[in-house]
Amino acid sequence: MSLSILGTGSALPSRAVANEEFTRIVDTSDEWIVSRTGIRSRRVITGETLTELAAAAGRSALQNAGAAADELDLILCTTIQGDYITPSLANLLQRDLGADCPAFDINAACCGFLYGLDAAQAYLAAGKARRVLLVSAEQMSKFTDWTDRATCILFGDGAAAVVLGPGEALQYIRVRSMGCTDSLHIPAPARATPFSDRERETGPSFLYMHGQNVFKFAVSSCAEGIRRALDALNLTADDIAHFLLHQANGRILDAVRRELGQPKEKFPGNLDRTGNISSASIPCLLDEMNRQGRLKPGRRLLLGAFGSGLATGTCVLAWGKE
Ligand code: ACO
Repeated sequence: MSLSILGTGSALPSRAVANEEFTRIVDTSDEWIVSRTGIRSRRVITGETLTELAAAAGRSALQNAGAAADELDLILCTTIQGDYITPSLANLLQRDLGADCPAFDINAACCGFLYGLDAAQAYLAAGKARRVLLVSAEQMSKFTDWTDRATCILFGDGAAAVVLGPGEALQYIRVRSMGCTDSLHIPAPARATPFSDRERETGPSFLYMHGQNVFKFAVSSCAEGIRRALDALNLTADDIAHFLLHQANGRILDAVRRELGQPKEKFPGNLDRTGNISSASIPCLLDEMNRQGRLKPGRRLLLGAFGSGLATGTCVLAWGKE
């Protein structure tokens, strides 16, 4: 393992949408949303573009790291989809930040940040890069079916970033994929061609989720991933200072926490204000804690994600620079 986090940043859209506003769109209530999910408000892109948010998060992380864009050897973006299908979001960031380095996107939905860390650490370990900018940016609102009360209340938009360099902070990382579309998917837009031999769907690309199946998968896979990580490092849950889990639902976080027998203070969250921002969720929380001075050098953090794929990711790292 050969990676350290040198700086963090984030950028959220200016428009906050409180639960109350959903009562005018679908049959729901603030009470239902808060009690079933823990979400009170989320940010939704209105005037900004996702590229602008990603660039703002990237600049903020570079500033926090004391690094310049021209030092970057690689830009990785994790996103379900940027502003264009091609060029990639990472390509546009390379231009907007004024960097001169390779840049590409990773789509691993809510596990994207963990997949990004895994890929970055391989570049750093191979000596192919010394400075990597990893930006997770998501516009979930464009995949939202605003008539589906079970999903439209869950998601938010935003971007967060880290600057990575060589170091010994990363102690464990494991990402997995199951290749399953049944419980959670966003269909790609399909067009009939003159050569199509069957009718193609051309409906909108809305997110479909079977909430209860994903809930059960999230709790069991997250707890299993954490136990495996702790066993591999010969640690117990008590050795972890903070568990930064994907901010999908407060009840999922609570269930995992109870399985581990850990206190609430060790499971920080920003879900109440951001909703589920897919791959941007964990780095956004990391940036918030970093700027609040809540991350102490040398203390162990465990990051855990789950989501579409179905995919999971778990990593343990010690906070601090090289
Ligand atoms: N307001 C009021 N009632 C609602 C709402 C709403 N917004 N949404 C659903 N309901 C109703 C349902 O219609 C149902 O009514 P019924 O009993 O009359 O049929 C009832 O509430 C219970 O519905 P459930 O789906 O069983 O509710 P549940 O407690 O499972 O909560 C939720 C739903 C919040 C979606 C939950 O299942 C969940 O969080 N799942 C996991 C989501 C997740 O983790 N996703 C991460 C991956 S996302 C990604 O990768 C992009």
